Amino acid sequence: MSDEVLQVLDSKFRSFFGREAEVVAHAPGRIEVLGNHTDYNEGYVLSAAIDKGTYFAVSPRGDGTARLVAGDVMEAVEFPAAAPQRSESAMWSNYVKGCVAGLNERFGAPERGFDAMFLGNIPLGSGLSSSAALECSSILALAKARGAEISKLDAALAGQRAENEWTGVKCGLLDQATSVFGERDHLVMSDFRTREFKPVAFPDDVCFLVCNTHAKHALVDGAYNERRECCERAARFFAATLDHPVRALRDVTWNEWLEHSGELDPLAARRAAHPIGEDERVLAGVELLREGDVEAFGRLMFDSHRSSREYFENSCPELDTVVDAAQKIPGVLGARLSGGGFGGSAVVLVRRRDAETAAAALAAAYSKVHGTPCDTSAVMCSDGARVVRP
Ligand code: GLA
Repeated sequence: MSDEVLQVLDSKFRSFFGREAEVVAHAPGRIEVLGNHTDYNEGYVLSAAIDKGTYFAVSPRGDGTARLVAGDVMEAVEFPAAAPQRSESAMWSNYVKGCVAGLNERFGAPERGFDAMFLGNIPLGSGLSSSAALECSSILALAKARGAEISKLDAALAGQRAENEWTGVKCGLLDQATSVFGERDHLVMSDFRTREFKPVAFPDDVCFLVCNTHAKHALVDGAYNERRECCERAARFFAATLDHPVRALRDVTWNEWLEHSGELDPLAARRAAHPIGEDERVLAGVELLREGDVEAFGRLMFDSHRSSREYFENSCPELDTVVDAAQKIPGVLGARLSGGGFGGSAVVLVRRRDAETAAAALAAAYSKVHGTPCDTSAVMCSDGARVVRP
């Protein structure tokens, strides 16, 4: 499937630029399995890179010009490679320009410009991190094209920074870290305080379905940043209240929340409950996977969604429809929203042998409520970003 994307990209690159793409990198999208809005609270997440992603192709030029093309719509922008400026019209280009700026800061002004084009198969707005896939693939390809080495962690950090500073979304590191540290047939267990990213074996008799609701995924509209500010406010309260150091909500236990949340403003208290509970669910989830208890693991996913819905209020009717329906479908073990929330996709854990019938049942249940079926497809836990050429 991905190879077809690369073939199309190669041919579009050739006909637009009149030459071959010398360097190509691929970066996957991601699903978030447990641990919602915990990354910027220095907590834990279980996630996986998926078998959908973005290819970024580049060839250096003789002059200092950068030409960049979005391969799906063949829209092109041009800018000086040494000094990219934020675009108000071609917003998509800011993800790459931010990465170029980051590489320039790290490795110095480039000697040469480049021709570049990217193409992927992650549906935009699906909540599967097409933006992180674009950032990570562009960083790996552009670094390679200028002969520079960049570690996985630094590539992820550069992508996150591009998104924070060039698109205004104060996202955490989850999407980019999963995109670079993903491993086939494994989940990624991330600790966003220590920045350790470890593979966790994923049982082969279960798999994930992704249900794209097509509901609006409004991260850029400020809901995400507002949630983040609430968590930071709550962390400041706990830092002033508890008798041990609190740098982020990661340092607050569920029992401490129960004891003190009444003293905090009600909105911040409700919001804080979510990442605090999620951290505990991630740690419990890792143990359950080790023990092979996928049923209990699935129940944690349902609990996670309930917490999103009630405390963080980052679900929406469309996502709730999927999760409510999932609870009644044979073979489904768990379901929750994945990523920022407010729309996008739900991720469903299902016994592999029941995946097909469960997907059909989910689409039908969704259609009954919303008039059209949600897009449901199986995803595979896949390897992380890499240079695929040369
Ligand atoms: C989005 C952000 C991530 C993370 C998730 C929620 O995907 O980009 O950094 O905060 O939402 O867990």
